[in-house]
Formats: sequence, structure tokens, C-alpha cells
Amino acid sequence: MKLKHGRVASRCKFEAAIHIVITGASSGLGAALAHFYAAAGVILSLAGRDLARLQTVAAGCRARGAEVAYEVVDVTDAAGMDRWLRTRDTACGVDLLIANAGIGGIGAIAPDNGEAGDLARQIIEINVIGVLNTVTPLLPRLVGRRRGHVAIVSSLAGFLGLPDAPSYCASKAAVRIYAEALRRRLAPHGVRVTAISPGFVDTPMSATLPFIQPWLWPADRAARHIAAGLARGKQEIVFPWQLHLAVRFAALLPTAIIDRVLIRRSLQGHHS
Ligand SMILES: NC(=O)c1ccc[n+]([C@@H]2O[C@H](COP(=O)([O-])OP(=O)(O)OC[C@H]3O[C@@H](n4cnc5c(N)ncnc54)[C@H](OP(=O)(O)O)[C@@H]3O)[C@@H](O)[C@H]2O)c1
Repeated sequence: MKLKHGRVASRCKFEAAIHIVITGASSGLGAALAHFYAAAGVILSLAGRDLARLQTVAAGCRARGAEVAYEVVDVTDAAGMDRWLRTRDTACGVDLLIANAGIGGIGAIAPDNGEAGDLARQIIEINVIGVLNTVTPLLPRLVGRRRGHVAIVSSLAGFLGLPDAPSYCASKAAVRIYAEALRRRLAPHGVRVTAISPGFVDTPMSATLPFIQPWLWPADRAARHIAAGLARGKQEIVFPWQLHLAVRFAALLPTAIIDRVLIRRSLQGHHS
């Protein structure tokens, strides 16, 4: 059986099942992706920290016909992630691994010292080390099978250093480049890697942002767009195009000009 994203399914409990792992599936984009993929013949392995929300998402996915396993595990727990991922892969070979879990960065700002150290460290640990903990345990198995698809959720904030979220921007730039390098490393071994860089998506995370979010997409629309890009085997999925263009254009401007624009925008945000 050919999968939506064009690969041959692994044979598990079902005659032909596709196995998708999603971290951060208890909320926002991860939950929307889980709901999008949920269907008969699909095995979903979902992870998050909040048991009640994870159970709600799992129940919704089961109602759509998917077989669902869920796990409360923190992505910063390397041993816990390794154990969970290997167990799930042994139950049924993973076809698509989506490293989506992450936290936002605005709360890390402390006006006196730039960023609150503890939160800044947490952002890097969850958004960067958490991605490594999600991706690395299964790489030898994917390479051994010469198939599989790894998707890593970055952000358009990873294209430009925003004064309101230094650690968040750094974390998202890190995982975008990590995905790019991994893609080039694993392509000869038959494993796909896609970097996903959304703009603003309507989720509990973006609901905390204290400014207007241009081209805000509903989470289900973002999930559909991401799934379509993954199915086409795209190397990078970046949306919406308007914000992508704006960010690319800003990066081409002389540093002094873009610095002035972003600093003024940040100060206006603090005073409004
Ligand atoms: N929303 C946006 O505008 C936007 C834009 C660009 C990129 N993104 C990226 O999209 C991804 C999903 O964000 P979202 O907007 O859907 O946010 P969200 O609604 O807050 O969901 C974040 C998810 O990540 C999980 N998570 C956070 N820290 C974790 C940890 N230490 N261990 C395990 N799971 C953890 C949360 O689990 P629990 O709730 O169970 O703790 C939750 O399921 C993030 O990587 C984010 O950076 C979002």
C-alpha cells in the first residue's frame, strides 16, 4: 500500500498500517496534526506532558478510526524518550516522526537583564535538546530500514533575531539548520527530513503573545498544509508565504535599518 506521503507502509498489526509519532500532541498544532492523520489503518503514537489533554486528543483520534497509544513523557527526559520511542518502533516500525513539542519565548523577557536565565535555558532545553531526544533514538533504525520521514517543527522566528524572544529565535534557528543538515546526511540512506517553519498559528501558545499576529492561521489549516507538504516530500515547509517573504526581505536589508525597525517595534510593544 502506498502511503499519503508516498512510501510503502510497514506491516504491523494491520495488513498495511502507517505509524506516525507526534510529540506535543496534547495541544495546538500537535493535536491538530494528530486529528488530521487519524483514520482507519493509521497508528498514532502521541506524547505530551498533560495526561488529561492527551487522553482527549487520543479519544478524538480513536473516534476517527485510528489506533492510538499515548505517553506522558517530557522531551527533555532523554532516557524516557529513548525508551518510549524504541518501544513504539518495536511495536510497529515508525513511518513518520514529527518533533513538534516546544514552548514559546516571550515570557523569557526581563527588561533589566535581557532575558530571565531560567526560562531562557528551559527554552533551549525543550526546543533544541528535546528535538534531539526525539529524533536521535530512531535514526539507526530508520537508516537500517532505508525508509522513514522525520519532520522537525521550527518557526519563521528562526529566520530573524527578534528582540522580544532571543532564546526562542535561537532555538528555532538551531533546529532548522539541524533539520537541513540531517536532510542532506540521511537522503543517501533513504530517510527524508523536513523542516517546518510556521508563522503565527492559532494555539494556546500564540494566545499568550501580546501583539497583533498578522496572517494568523487556524491550527487545522496549518496541519492540513503541513501534511500536504510532507506528502509531497518537501524539504522545507514555510508558511504563510506573505510572512515568509517579509522575513526573507528583512534579512536582506542593511543590519542598521532592520535593527532600527525591530527595536522600535519591540519598544512600542512594551509601551502599549
Ligand atoms: N503557535 C504558533 O504561532 C507557532 C508558530 C511557529 C512555530 N510554532 C511551534 O509549533 C510547535 C507547537 O506549538 P503550539 O503553538 O501548538 O503550542 P502549544 O499549544 O503550547 O503546544 C505545545 C505542545 O508542546 C508540548 N510540550 C511543551 N513542552 C514540553 C516538554 N518539555 N515535554 C513534552 N512536551 C512538551 C505541550 O505539551 P503539554 O501541554 O502536555 O505540556 C504541547 O502539547 C512548537 O514547537 C512551537 O514552537 C508555533
